[in-house]
Amino acid sequence: MKIRTEKVQVMWFKACIFDLDGVIVDTAKYHFLAWKRLADEMGINFTEHDNERLKGVSRMASLEIILELGGKSLPQTEKEKLADIKNRWYVEYISRMTPEEILPGAMEFVRELRNKNYKVALGSASKNTPMIIERVGMTDIFDAVADGNTVRKAKPDPEVFLKASSVLGVDPDRCIVFEDAAAGIEAALNAGMACVGIGNSKILKNAHLVIGGLNEMNIDKIYSLEKQLGHEKLV
Ligand code: G6P
Ligand code: MG
Repeated sequence: MKIRTEKVQVMWFKACIFDLDGVIVDTAKYHFLAWKRLADEMGINFTEHDNERLKGVSRMASLEIILELGGKSLPQTEKEKLADIKNRWYVEYISRMTPEEILPGAMEFVRELRNKNYKVALGSASKNTPMIIERVGMTDIFDAVADGNTVRKAKPDPEVFLKASSVLGVDPDRCIVFEDAAAGIEAALNAGMACVGIGNSKILKNAHLVIGGLNEMNIDKIYSLEKQLGHEKLV
């Protein structure tokens, strides 16, 4: 009897989970503008470099980082007021968003995935997720949305991605996360998921693959990832 030892593609991955800010839409710039305005008013020096630490991090944790940069500590009630002010400015920006602010290739890739029967979900720390996806016309395209309104623990805790995979009914190791933040990559790895970084490969060095944007992504790269992670089947 002849024993076959070829490896074949098995379509291991069943779902893709996308971070929102900086992956699907370019809201990272609005977060920065609003935090910068707050920092300026408080006399705290806050640069784009510092802003990297805020990506993927919850609203309150972001404020803590800014206060730490300024060497300030404030009572909880004061911090809540400041976070509310920042959010009001941020909401002013996002309430004017249009579908043109969907990042290049994002809509096309999500559609391609759906056509190929992959499940697609959002996994974001943002409490403003519903407003953003409504403004850019993407509310109906996701099979599941896990966001800052439904989860408690911030990335790098895996809660948001595990929640998305459980709503989809897909095991974590069959999911691929797309993330632009180092904290998000750690969250995906902590969830036991494959992970594609969007942006700078030095910052996102722990991702399984790093690309410049979703316009560089396609189904063939999913198959390559399956190979890279040893999910091909021996027949
Ligand atoms: C995302 C962004 C963070 C933001 C967080 C909370 O993860 O990358 O920069 O702080 O969401 O957003 P929210 O809209 O709830 O303030
Ligand atoms: Mg992000």
